[in-house]
Amino acid sequence: MKDFAGKIAVITGGGTGMGRELARQLVAEGCNVAMCDVSAEAMAETKRLCEVEKLPQGLRVTTHIADVSIEDQLKRFRDELIEQQATDRIHLLFNNAGIGGGGSLFTNSREQWERTFNICWGGVYLGVRTFLPLLVKADEAHIVNTSSVNGFWASVGMGVAHTAYSAAKFAVKGFTEALINDLRLHAPHVKCSVVMPGHIGTSIVSNSRKLQNGTDSERLGPNDIVQARQRLKGMGIDTTPMSDEDIQKIALDRARSFRDEAPTTAARAATVILDGVKAERWRILVGDDAHKIDQRVREAPDNAYSHEFYQSFAAEVGWRLG
Ligand SMILES: NC(=O)c1ccc[n+]([C@@H]2O[C@H](COP(=O)([O-])OP(=O)(O)OC[C@H]3O[C@@H](n4cnc5c(N)ncnc54)[C@H](O)[C@@H]3O)[C@@H](O)[C@H]2O)c1
Repeated sequence: MKDFAGKIAVITGGGTGMGRELARQLVAEGCNVAMCDVSAEAMAETKRLCEVEKLPQGLRVTTHIADVSIEDQLKRFRDELIEQQATDRIHLLFNNAGIGGGGSLFTNSREQWERTFNICWGGVYLGVRTFLPLLVKADEAHIVNTSSVNGFWASVGMGVAHTAYSAAKFAVKGFTEALINDLRLHAPHVKCSVVMPGHIGTSIVSNSRKLQNGTDSERLGPNDIVQARQRLKGMGIDTTPMSDEDIQKIALDRARSFRDEAPTTAARAATVILDGVKAERWRILVGDDAHKIDQRVREAPDNAYSHEFYQSFAAEVGWRLG
């Protein structure tokens, strides 16, 4: 798809981060956008930002509350979209919504684990199922599924258990790669891409914590404090002399620096993704760190989960995540 003007795009998780920037850039190119999120407030801000510049006549930006892990909510989103965008077809589907957390089989509850898995994997799978008939009706269409570098490398550092997110992101990558041929066989006018970002500056750390804990508070719950202590221990830091309040401060600072000190901004990531769609690349790596880890894992797969591998990679790209 060379041009987004006049097309209709669905974006899941459009409330903040890369979803918000995709919405802004698509609207700037004259594309209609229907977004969903679990936060009405965040979507209202995205819509406001999209409309800062006067929209071309007739361009629609619609917001819809839907949790992507719940099929009935996605179906309601689809039905609202059909009505509010006055269409029976869409051209672009960005399955972008995702959260982290719940990564340990030992220290997280099954509920936390499955929340991450069901949003990051289930949301992509159900998104494709729900919107495929509308994509097929368009004369050209493109599905963009967001995985991660954790879709080919299941780690963010030695101090962090990361099983739910990695399992989900590997699933997104495998599903999308296999979808290439399913589409080629049955709906060749529909293309697909898997997006694998490195570290992108968004609020995913604090958003995930809030969604996992069912709260709007930035403060860590008791389970988060235990996890944060383990993470610091894994980084070789002795937390025994630290109070829970000290741990709170370190975790808040980590969420801030994850957003503000990332090598790639959310806006830049959205541009790379949209350029990848225009170039019909099925595989879209985002950020130098993503390209470097891809290369390193391919060069030395047997070492990919050793301390030395992580430390040498983190030192090269400046990661301070785990
Ligand atoms: N930020 C990174 O470094 C990074 C790296 C690799 C991959 N990713 C992936 O990129 C995607 C976007 O992440 P981001 O960094 O922009 O995060 P973000 O937290 O800024 O944005 C995610 C949005 O999704 C929404 N959301 C969460 N759960 C939802 C659900 N169940 N239903 C609907 N909406 C939901 C959130 O409310 C939020 O608005 C995610 O899939 C994430 O896993 C992010």
